[in-house]
Amino acid sequence: MTQIYKDANGRHHMEGRKGTIFTVFSTAYAVGKSLIAVNIAAELAKQGMKVCLVDLDLQFGDICYYLKLNPKKTIADAQRAMKANPQDTVAVEFLTKYAAGGVSFDVLTNPKLMEEAYNMDNGIIRSLVQQLQLEYDYVIIDTTSTFSALNLSMMDLSTLINFVGIVDFIPTIKNMKRGSDTLKELGYDDSKIRYVLNRSNAKTRIDVEDVEAILGKHFDYVLPNDFQTAQNSVRSGVPFVLEARHTPLAKELISIVDGYVRPDTEQKEEKTENHGSWLSRLFS
Ligand SMILES: Nc1ncnc2c1ncn2[C@@H]1O[C@H](COP(=O)(O)OP(=O)(O)OP(=O)(O)O)[C@@H](O)[C@H]1O
Ligand SMILES: [Mg+2]
Repeated sequence: MTQIYKDANGRHHMEGRKGTIFTVFSTAYAVGKSLIAVNIAAELAKQGMKVCLVDLDLQFGDICYYLKLNPKKTIADAQRAMKANPQDTVAVEFLTKYAAGGVSFDVLTNPKLMEEAYNMDNGIIRSLVQQLQLEYDYVIIDTTSTFSALNLSMMDLSTLINFVGIVDFIPTIKNMKRGSDTLKELGYDDSKIRYVLNRSNAKTRIDVEDVEAILGKHFDYVLPNDFQTAQNSVRSGVPFVLEARHTPLAKELISIVDGYVRPDTEQKEEKTENHGSWLSRLFS
C-alpha cells in the first residue's frame, strides 16, 4: 500500500517512489560524458520515464549548450532559495523543460555565473538531488572529471555509475586505471559501476584488449566514434537518440538504456584476458 510520509524538511512524499540515479563520470576531459548523459536522459524519456537531468559540471557545464536551453532559473537560484527558506524550497521549481519530437524531460541547469558556481554548497546540492529522486523515475547526473567531494557524494547516492573512458593516449589510460582503482578502494561495489568505452573505433595505436587487461575489467558497453552524428546533435540541440536513431552510435546508446531499464536483457560478452602486451607491461 502506498503511504504518505514526511521528509527531514517537513515535506510530504509518497513512500516507495524513489527514483534511480545514474551518474556519468570519467577521469579524463572530453570523453563524452555530457553527450552520453543527455542521450541517456532523452532515451529514458522516450521510453515513457519521468526524467530529470542535472548538470553538476558547475563551472563549465555543457548541457544548456547541447540542448539549446535558456534557463530562467538555475541550481544557483535553488541554492539561494534553500538558504533563505529551507522548509519551503522545492527543487522542481528550478527546472527547465526540454522538449523535442514529443519527448520531454526536465533539467536542473548549472549556474550562469562563475562566482555562483564557485559558491555552490555540496550539502545543498545533495539535498536538491535527493528531492528530485522522490519526484522522478530517473535522475541523470553529469559530472566533471575529478574525484571531488561533490562527485563522490553523487556517486554515493547513485544507483549506477557510468564510468566513461576513451582509448587515446597513455596518460588517459593511466588515469582511467587510477580512477577505477580509487573507486574500488573507496569501497564501491563493482556491480554499481558500468565501464563505457566511447569513440571506440577512433584511430589509435592502442588496443582495447590491452586497456582491458590493464584495468582488469571488460568494458560493459562500447560506443563507436561518430563525429558527424555527435556534431549534428550538438548543433541542432536534439539528442541523437531522437534525431539519428538509426545510427550505430544511437543504437548502442539505446541498448545501454534498455539494459538499465530491463536488466535481464543486458548481455555481456565473455572475453579472454590478454596479459602479455607492451601496454600492460608498462603498468605492471
Ligand atoms: N561517440 C562519439 N563520436 C564522436 N564524437 C563524440 C562522441 N562522443 C562525444 N563526442 C564529442 O566529443 C566532444 C566531447 O564530448 P562531451 O562534451 O560530451 O565530453 P565531456 O566528457 O562531457 O567533456 P568535459 O570533460 O569537457 O565535460 C564533443 O565535441 C562531442 O560531440
Ligand atoms: Mg561535460
